[in-house]
Amino acid sequence: MKNERLKIAIQKKGRISEASLAFLNSIGLRFTPNGHYLIQKCEDKDIDLILLRDDDIPEYVNRGIADFAIIGQNVLLEKQLNATVIRELDFAKCRLAIAVPEDSSIKTLNNLEGERIATTYPRLLKEYLTQNNINCAIIPISGSVEITPELNLADAICDVVQTGNTLKAHNLKPLVTILESKALLITNNVAKNGKQDLKELLLK
Ligand code: PRP
Repeated sequence: MKNERLKIAIQKKGRISEASLAFLNSIGLRFTPNGHYLIQKCEDKDIDLILLRDDDIPEYVNRGIADFAIIGQNVLLEKQLNATVIRELDFAKCRLAIAVPEDSSIKTLNNLEGERIATTYPRLLKEYLTQNNINCAIIPISGSVEITPELNLADAICDVVQTGNTLKAHNLKPLVTILESKALLITNNVAKNGKQDLKELLLK
């Protein structure tokens, strides 16, 4: 039988990426970079680290390809990931917020009625607006959401805020927080036998 290796998925770059690697190092897992190759092997165990775009991590977890993953709570909830949270991690703390231009006439949540909101989190935004009985046109975007008001694609945005520097750079200010988020260590819910000794390293 093929000796299957345990697979852990993390974001390949960005703030959560370095902290994820540091966490794995802290529990004794060290991986060897191999140029631009996006799978790194553990130095002394049958474990592979898969480096992915954060939006793609749910697909690998849902299909049981990745045994474990480190992912932001915001992504987990947006993608309705079928996974078990093993533990909350103390990094990648951020919030998902609706923000508007500094000089916007939108001053309150109710002022959003009928406006256009660009976001990479359409599901979470829709849920929040529905709960608050507000009707908006949600404009799904994959990135660079902060430029959409200036270019008149949207009247407001809903995006991740950490330091707030990106909002400031685009003359935007937060109106309301819809979710507080941090990194989570998760495992898939796809029943598979084997690799239990390796799994214990992450489950303890
Ligand atoms: C996120 C988010 C904002 C930025 C906010 O992007 O989309 O653009 O961080 O951070 P700040 O409040 O500290 O300025 P990120 O670069 O993490 O990558 P992403 O596009 O994959 O979300």
